[in-house]
Amino acid sequence: MIKKICCIGAGYVGGPTMAVIAYHCPEIDIHIVDSNKERIDLWNSDNLDNIPVKEPGLSKIISKVRGKNLFFSNEVDKYIDLCEMIFIAVNTPTKTSGEGKGMEADLKNIINCAKQVALVSKSDKIIVEKSTLPVRTAEKLKEILENNKKEKINFEIISNPEFLAEGTAIQDLFKSDRVLIGAEQTESGKIAQNKLIDIYKKWIPEEKIIKTNVWSSELSKLASNAMLAQRISSINSLSALAEKSGAKIDELSMAIGKDHRIGDKFLKASVGFGGSCFQKDILNLVYISRQYGLDEVADYWHNVVKINEFQKDRFSQIIIRNIKTSSNQIVSVLGWAFKKDTNDSRESSSISVTSNLLLKELTVKVYDPLIKINQIYQDITTYLEFKNINQKNISKLLQKLTVNDNLNHCLIETDAIAFLTEWDIFLDIEWDKFSKNQHNKSKPKIFDGRGIIDQEHVSSLGYQIYQIGNGDNSIN
Ligand code: NAD
Ligand code: UGA
Repeated sequence: MIKKICCIGAGYVGGPTMAVIAYHCPEIDIHIVDSNKERIDLWNSDNLDNIPVKEPGLSKIISKVRGKNLFFSNEVDKYIDLCEMIFIAVNTPTKTSGEGKGMEADLKNIINCAKQVALVSKSDKIIVEKSTLPVRTAEKLKEILENNKKEKINFEIISNPEFLAEGTAIQDLFKSDRVLIGAEQTESGKIAQNKLIDIYKKWIPEEKIIKTNVWSSELSKLASNAMLAQRISSINSLSALAEKSGAKIDELSMAIGKDHRIGDKFLKASVGFGGSCFQKDILNLVYISRQYGLDEVADYWHNVVKINEFQKDRFSQIIIRNIKTSSNQIVSVLGWAFKKDTNDSRESSSISVTSNLLLKELTVKVYDPLIKINQIYQDITTYLEFKNINQKNISKLLQKLTVNDNLNHCLIETDAIAFLTEWDIFLDIEWDKFSKNQHNKSKPKIFDGRGIIDQEHVSSLGYQIYQIGNGDNSIN
């Protein structure tokens, strides 16, 4: 029985997954370690509002387990050495330089973890790949561990990819559709696999725990994300066609989703998928396919990302076309998070759409209930730098950007209101009230990138509205 777990990486995966294991397994001590001191300090903050990952239900669980059997620390070496099972949940972004730039997963953090584990371990360890990794990464890890180890010890590597979605992480972890555990089909591999199964069995029904070999497990994670993203790109591509042909995308989604072979999930048309994983994991899949000489396979998946870019650009151009009648026009961007109920803005569609608006010299006001002002400026700066805009021009563009902490300020004194995240509070906007305060002539145009606005109602109040995938739009 495992008694001590160390998890390297206190992020959106490491924090919630370990909190849930700690909750269900009070007999196991879990130490989450991270090289980022600021992040660890926030996890240890007395005020639970300050924990760095905002997820419904997370702070309640943290309050129950933190200091009892869940601990956060910067002492990475100490807890690697102390624990029998090491989860690696560090970030694996797309490479930004060198060979594979913009496509391949950057495994620098994973490699550093493996070296560190090898150098400090004085006893056998089970290493659990929790991060999303290219297929056959376990092979590389094994090599690094064997080449750098200081003692005559055994490392067993198992793959246990994470399928939680942000915003619903706790419910996903409590009631997982499946838990995937891939191990080498050797005696020691199977023992390690069973030790991890014993942990999950505490709350996950056994029939939902899937045993595979390591490569199937690693590849299944990339494939699952690719299939989910593919559904979004499929419906988003059809949203463009619906607008041209007079159809309504929500009606299409409903009609298609009623076929039980297709199902109704992940068919909500949007301004494009965001988040730290879909794009990076598909690009990684594309890269791996090319490495194996499978160009047709690579091209097929690359189109999922291309359609996503098309959708974000299409939405930006519709705003620009309809607003940029003179300079000094103002656009309110509502929502910065890549989806509701998370404080994560990585790869959010808001970033590229807002950048496109700023580059066309429009003034932009942003509101988001959870994303901090510094993060918004940082996101835009990083994006523009990536587009090779120089610092002087970036500073100039940022002068046209303001961030409001009050939703109502974004609804008034503006020429356009663009919905980029589907936050519930946006459903409560009192359009009747605003309509009375706004002369017909000065009513802002509405651009709904999430299909959340009651189009008939706001149109009846005299607003012009563009809604993604709606063939009845008064703005095109
Ligand atoms: P994150 O950026 O939120 O957290 C990663 C943490 O690892 C950071 O705090 C960073 O400081 C730390 N770290 C990096 N290298 C380190 C090292 N060598 N030593 C100590 N700490 C180190 O990332 P995340 O969103 O939690 O994602 C982690 C992995 O899980 C990624 O591979 C991602 O693809 C995958 N994943 C993410 C999600 C999600 O919803 N975010 C879901 C499933 C899988
Ligand atoms: C996604 C997967 O759903 C998780 O299973 C996976 O573990 C995770 O990636 C990961 O590997 O990181 P996440 O990105 O957190 O989770 O959130 P999703 O709910 O999948 O949404 C991703 C993006 O797609 C969001 O921008 C969302 O608004 C958008 N989306 C989702 C749509 O536009 N339409 C839909 O129908 C569903």
